[in-house]
Amino acid sequence: MKALVARDYGPLEDLVVEEMPVPVPGPGQLLVRTEAAALNPADTALITGAMRDVLPVGHPFIPGVDTAGIVVAVGEGVTRFAVGDPVLAWNGIPSGTLAEFAIVGDGPGTGHRPAALDPVRAAALPTATLTGAALLDAAEVKPGGTLLIVGASGGIGSFLVQMAVQAGVRVLATGRAEDEEYLRGLGAHEFIDYRDAAVAAQTRRLVPGGVDAVIDLALAGPALAGSAAAVRSGGLVVSPKGGPDLFDGGVTGVYTGVTRPEGRLEGFATQAAEGRLQVPIAAEYPFADVRQAVIDFPRRHLLGKAIVVFPPIEAE
Ligand SMILES: NC(=O)c1ccc[n+]([C@@H]2O[C@H](COP(=O)([O-])OP(=O)(O)OC[C@H]3O[C@@H](n4cnc5c(N)ncnc54)[C@H](OP(=O)(O)O)[C@@H]3O)[C@@H](O)[C@H]2O)c1
Repeated sequence: MKALVARDYGPLEDLVVEEMPVPVPGPGQLLVRTEAAALNPADTALITGAMRDVLPVGHPFIPGVDTAGIVVAVGEGVTRFAVGDPVLAWNGIPSGTLAEFAIVGDGPGTGHRPAALDPVRAAALPTATLTGAALLDAAEVKPGGTLLIVGASGGIGSFLVQMAVQAGVRVLATGRAEDEEYLRGLGAHEFIDYRDAAVAAQTRRLVPGGVDAVIDLALAGPALAGSAAAVRSGGLVVSPKGGPDLFDGGVTGVYTGVTRPEGRLEGFATQAAEGRLQVPIAAEYPFADVRQAVIDFPRRHLLGKAIVVFPPIEAE
C-alpha cells in the first residue's frame, strides 16, 4: 500500500510517500481501506519529534489518527463490525491513517458511518469532536452560563462552539477579524478579535464579572494567565495542553484531552448526518498531494478541518 512515511524525526519536508506492507488486523482489530483522513496538530508534532519526550514513535512512522473508510478485514473476536461496513475512527497515537489501509480498534473510538455522512465529513469528526466534548465536560458550565473559547475557528473550536451553544451556554468566541461571520454562523453569541486587544479585557467589557470558564485551544503553560484573567473567581481555565493548577483571582486550571465514551463518536456522526452539527471543511487535498498537505498544515489559517481524500476504491 502507499503511505506517508517519516523515516526519522525531522522537518516535514523530509516526509516521503512510499510502499509499505498492508497491516494485518489482530484480535479485536479491523483493517480499514481509507477513504479520507483528517490532519491534526499532533500529526506534525509526532513527525518532527516535538512531542518525543511524552509520545515517542517508532520509525518508519506513518502519521494520522483520524480516519473514515470501509472495513476490509476483521480480526478474531470482532462482532460489532463486518467486512464492507463504512466506519469512522480515532484510534489513538500512533495510528497510521495517512495510508491506503489502517488498523483501528473494535472499541468506542470506532463508529459506524451513517449513509448520509460522506467520508470527508466523517474523517473530520473523531479527534476534534471527542476532544471538544471532553473539554466542554471539564468546563462544567451550566445552561445560561458563559464560556470563552480561545482558538474557536480551528479544528476543535469549530465543533466546540456548536456543542456549547447546543448545551444552552452563552459562547464568546475568538478569531481573526475576518472570521466573525464564520463563528457567528456556528452559533457564537459574541465575537472577540484576538489580534485587536487583550482577549481578557474585551471579554470583561461583554461580561463584566468574568466568564464562568475559558477553554483555551491556542495557548499553554504560563501564557494561559492571560485567558484566566477573563474568568470570574471560582471559575475554570480548561486546556488540552497543560499549565498552572491555579491562577490569580481564584481561577483553577483543568487539563484534559481526547476521550472515547461509549456511543459518543457515533452520536456526533448521527448529528452530522442529520444536519444538526455543521462539519466545516477548510481544505481538501487528494492523497497524491498528502506530503504537501502536511507541510502546509501548520502554516495555513484554516476555518475547520483539513482532510486528505483517497481515490475511490472502485477506481483502482
Ligand atoms: N490533549 C489532547 O488529547 C488533544 C487532542 C486534540 C488536540 N489537542 C491540542 O489542542 C490544540 C487545538 O487543536 P485544534 O485541532 O483545534 O488546532 P487548530 O485547528 O490548529 O486550531 C488552533 C486555533 O488556535 C488559534 N490561535 C492560534 N494562536 C492564537 C492566539 N495567540 N490567540 C488566539 N487564538 C489563537 C488558531 O487561529 P488562527 O488560524 O487565527 O491562527 C486556530 O483557530 C492543539 O494544540 C492540539 O495539539 C490536544
